[in-house]
Amino acid sequence: MFDSGRGGEAVASRLRELLPGSDVITADDAANVPYGSRSDEEVERLTAEGVKPLLDAGCDAVVLACNTATAAAIDHLRRDIPAIPFVGLEPMVKPAAAMSRSGVIAVCATPATLRSGRYQRLKDAWAPQTRVLEPDCSAWAAAVEREGPEVVDLAPLVEEVRDSGADVVVLACTHYHWLKERIEAQLAAELPERGVTVLEPSDAVAGQVARVLGSPPRSGL
Ligand code: DGL
Repeated sequence: MFDSGRGGEAVASRLRELLPGSDVITADDAANVPYGSRSDEEVERLTAEGVKPLLDAGCDAVVLACNTATAAAIDHLRRDIPAIPFVGLEPMVKPAAAMSRSGVIAVCATPATLRSGRYQRLKDAWAPQTRVLEPDCSAWAAAVEREGPEVVDLAPLVEEVRDSGADVVVLACTHYHWLKERIEAQLAAELPERGVTVLEPSDAVAGQVARVLGSPPRSGL
């Protein structure tokens, strides 16, 4: 699992639960995190460097447990290293749009992910009739990394969700997985009638890794 920082561990811990037969090791890039405000070229170069310890360790598959790195680098990695399956993380626009009753969803992601062509294509393909909010979460990854998830002020997100009618929130940066329970709790307290769903992709990633490795995960995903 590669992430710029602490996001990788959030996904890795779930993979270890669901794929107990696999050794899940992580690599990060503590010197250069956060990636989300960097240029695509920088993220691509740093990701190519960052996955090297995983390739050197003989991993059978490499997960880019980072939406930002996936958007900027996965196409190049797949082209340059065809022998290794790369699994990427992408914003869960498709399930969010499909499950939304109000037709309004919120995607929490880094600036680099939000401006990427991959994300634009996801919205065009799966959410053409959905109103997609993109709250400003640009300070979150650095805050989670340096000070911990508890310092992130969730009030602006909660207000935007409340005022827009959104009923699904997509966590499209793995650093934000550490905020999931707080976001759920604050939305439930603020909007008890609406039943807002908060999505993150760790289980789907485990299922994809299992398919790639040819070993079914514990939950039968
Ligand atoms: N955890 C990464 C992601 O999923 C990004 C955090 C960062 O900005 O480095 O996008």
